[in-house]
Amino acid sequence: MGYFKNITLNNFRNFENYSLNFSKECNVFFGINGCGKTNVLEGISLFSKGKGLRKDRLNNLIKKNHKHFSIKSDFDNQNIIYNFLIKSEYRNDNVKKIFSVNEDRTKDIIDTIYNLTTFLYFLPETERLFLASPNTRRNFIDQLIFTYNTKYNKTLNLYNKYLLERSKLLKTNILDEKWLSQLEKYISLYALEIYSFREKQIGILSEYLNKYLNYYNLNFKISIKLNDSFFTKNITEDLIVKELKKNRNKDALIGGCSVGPHKSDYIFYVNKDFLASQLSTGQQKTLILLAFLSQSKYLIDIEKRKPILLFDEVCSHLDELNRSILLGLVESFNLQIFMTGTSKDLFSFLSTNTNFCNITEK
Ligand SMILES: Nc1ncnc2c1ncn2[C@@H]1O[C@H](COP(=O)(O)OP(=O)(O)OP(=O)(O)O)[C@@H](O)[C@H]1O
Ligand SMILES: [Mg+2]
Repeated sequence: MGYFKNITLNNFRNFENYSLNFSKECNVFFGINGCGKTNVLEGISLFSKGKGLRKDRLNNLIKKNHKHFSIKSDFDNQNIIYNFLIKSEYRNDNVKKIFSVNEDRTKDIIDTIYNLTTFLYFLPETERLFLASPNTRRNFIDQLIFTYNTKYNKTLNLYNKYLLERSKLLKTNILDEKWLSQLEKYISLYALEIYSFREKQIGILSEYLNKYLNYYNLNFKISIKLNDSFFTKNITEDLIVKELKKNRNKDALIGGCSVGPHKSDYIFYVNKDFLASQLSTGQQKTLILLAFLSQSKYLIDIEKRKPILLFDEVCSHLDELNRSILLGLVESFNLQIFMTGTSKDLFSFLSTNTNFCNITEK
């Protein structure tokens, strides 16, 4: 798996024309609030499927009072250099992201590249994973699944698309029974897939997390439980179809869809019955850092993929243990990692060959 050698941002967010060179290992972006550190991370994250780390509208990525943005980068994969280019393009007034590799935009090459670039994100809000809404935890689990299953994106998108269509249809007075049944079949099919991918991911996370807790001499065990009033181990497509049919009137009245994986939550327990959300802020951070360590280990050992880590403001609340976990993540697997912080001093625990970039352009 490869690494980014550099980046050039043109009319992207607060940058007009800004270039940086990267180390293939640890990179730190530092500078005052608002200088553009997260924007640089976001620029890198756009070289993956989807809308990047902020999931913002593409329109908002274009520098104010400009018409287009572009991002260039040379990506080194086993000494073969690929010229990556992302450009904004207008289609029917909507901004689209156009990705080309060595000036080739065919689907095959782009899919190959998406398989080479696997990102793991830590965002400031990730710190609140255990305290935040179920939606945040579902997204976190989904993000982990994307790191080895590039098709999972499509499953989720189709599931959400058909849910929306069903909702719209239920609101109309004249029901197209045939189409509604067909939609519910599709929804059930994708719901089942999502449940099963998430179950697998939870299994991976529990197994590796507990190994690492042990490794760091942390004297507790983590279990992750699915909280979903509808889900049972014996769930089938037919059962979901039946439930959707039964709920039609209720769903028409309230809107949305009352059952399915979009309602799931994943609860993290410490030693069976203590909620992870009741741990101290720093202890929660330990678990989250260990989750990233776990996923990296799994990706490298089992999926044979090397993730690239994009860690925004990861350095708050780091005691010695948390620092050593972060250092372990930086040093054990030779991963390319990008971190941000307001001051260089926050990263003094890193080894001397860290590439420090002072982000300055306005
Ligand atoms: N489309 C845009 N055009 C111009 N400027 C923008 C655009 N989008 C965002 N910005 C500006 O970019 C600046 C840098 O944002 P960014 O979030 O990268 O800062 P940061 O260095 O991460 O700051 P912090 O330390 O507070 O997290 C902000 O002032 C923001 O308002
Ligand atoms: Mg920031």
